[in-house]
Amino acid sequence: MSKPYYITTPIYYPNSDPHIGSVYTTLCCDVLARFMRLDGHEVKFLTGTDEHGQKIEQTATKLGKSPQEFVDEASKSFRNVLAVYNLSVDDFIRTTELRHKRGVQHFWELLEKKGYIYLGSYAGWYAVRDEAFYTESDLVDGKAPTGAPVEWVEEPSYFFKLSAFQDKLLEYYASHPDFIAPLSRRNEVLSFVKGGLKDLSVSRTSFKWGIPVPGNESHVIYVWLDALMNYLTALGYPDREKRDYTTFWPADVHMVGKDILRFHAVYWPAFLMAADLPLPKKIFAHGWWTNKGQKISKSLGNVIDPYEIAETYGVDQVRYFLIREVPFGNDGDYSEEALISRVNSQLSNELGNLVQRTLSMVWKNCEEKMPSPSIPFEEGDKALMKKAYSLIEDIRPLLQKDQALSKYVDLLWQLVGDANRYVDTQAPWALRKNNPPRMEVVLYTLCEVIRVLGILLQPLIPASAAKILDQLGVPEQARTFKNLEAVDALKPGAPIQEPQGIFPRLNDVRNPETC
Ligand code: MSP
Repeated sequence: MSKPYYITTPIYYPNSDPHIGSVYTTLCCDVLARFMRLDGHEVKFLTGTDEHGQKIEQTATKLGKSPQEFVDEASKSFRNVLAVYNLSVDDFIRTTELRHKRGVQHFWELLEKKGYIYLGSYAGWYAVRDEAFYTESDLVDGKAPTGAPVEWVEEPSYFFKLSAFQDKLLEYYASHPDFIAPLSRRNEVLSFVKGGLKDLSVSRTSFKWGIPVPGNESHVIYVWLDALMNYLTALGYPDREKRDYTTFWPADVHMVGKDILRFHAVYWPAFLMAADLPLPKKIFAHGWWTNKGQKISKSLGNVIDPYEIAETYGVDQVRYFLIREVPFGNDGDYSEEALISRVNSQLSNELGNLVQRTLSMVWKNCEEKMPSPSIPFEEGDKALMKKAYSLIEDIRPLLQKDQALSKYVDLLWQLVGDANRYVDTQAPWALRKNNPPRMEVVLYTLCEVIRVLGILLQPLIPASAAKILDQLGVPEQARTFKNLEAVDALKPGAPIQEPQGIFPRLNDVRNPETC
């Protein structure tokens, strides 16, 4: 087994239902996690819910529930959406679990013992929606820079000596140029840290819903310190002898949205440095989805319900759209038109037709069996298969090193395009009449390319890729990246399943005549 791989999503606030943004973050991690598993790595893929803090307490109160009652219920919909979208998480952590609380309190005591936490008092602005502190100069028109309302807070507070880490962080960023990605985001963090770091308030006294500060229960631990620790407590921390901890820490990738990069790329590494723990290898900040150009928000009433679109368009269709639509790291704009157009042109026409017309010809003309080449392959056949077999070498660094999700799909579609052009130039329907042995060679070549595509598509559209591989008769145990070689090629003469269309064209619900 090659190197273990640990990938995490942010843990979600369950005060509102999962939406397209939260599904997106987990989906990106899912594609990477599935890819790494198929490539022979032992993977841990973690997600969960961030259940403490003032925001949750307020939401529960509004609903007339206790916070615990509220989060027990609300966290379920984040679990449910995982199954709907085929998101292959290995663990789901809730910050109200004992395993988490224990680890956070231990960590607090450690930082305190090392002299990085001291008691003082906080006077400043706080945005409950962001669960973040702001200074007067941060504010824009009386609001947080994120647009969240702020309130003035004055209370006793413990502080973390963040200011002591400014130089250490800058040194770390300089010696680990890949620590924060993409580059534009790295530059933002660098200039923030160069601008100077103030000590960070890490406890609150004006509400109760949180993990009590050990030894001073009138304080609860600041929800971001609590939440960030999930990445460690899910591995069994503070027990550093545990296999999970020794195998998976430091994490390979913390995937986050750009809005929460500062917490992950500044505060989190500083906390870890203070505790003398190794830092994660990479923080990747992806962009934000808008809906037809508008910021998605409850108040605008333009929230995209992930359950509804999965139901309407199909899970793999939505997975495909979200990953292909934006160069990973950029912002993306969701629209029904864009989704339908991509599904129809790329999944139904380009990939679907390739599979459907190839397998239908095989079914009809090769006695429902894999074609049996009886004459030598020509250069063009060999070149196409060679390209298919070597594609993994190009994809691997893109995903493993750069998390370049949309580029991975672009590369697959180049092969789809090559294969479709090959069908057109070879015209197997004509060969059927004038050169049947050559037809068998051409159809075999196509099936082999489709087998490779099916294997490589599994991380992106797992259910559809499985259907493709089932139709070709590829055994379940022969679907890893190790099998992407000529030695595991399809067996000539093996029976195949009757081909079924995999990607039906979507009707545009508003303009059916345009499809
Ligand atoms: N609880 C914190 C994270 C703690 S991690 C130690 C939090 N939760 S959140 O539910 O508000 O957001 C979770 C993730 O969803 C963030 O990465 C955020 O960027 C992402 N998204 C929320 N809305 C989004 C879009 N419209 N588009 C893309 N992602 C967005 O922050």
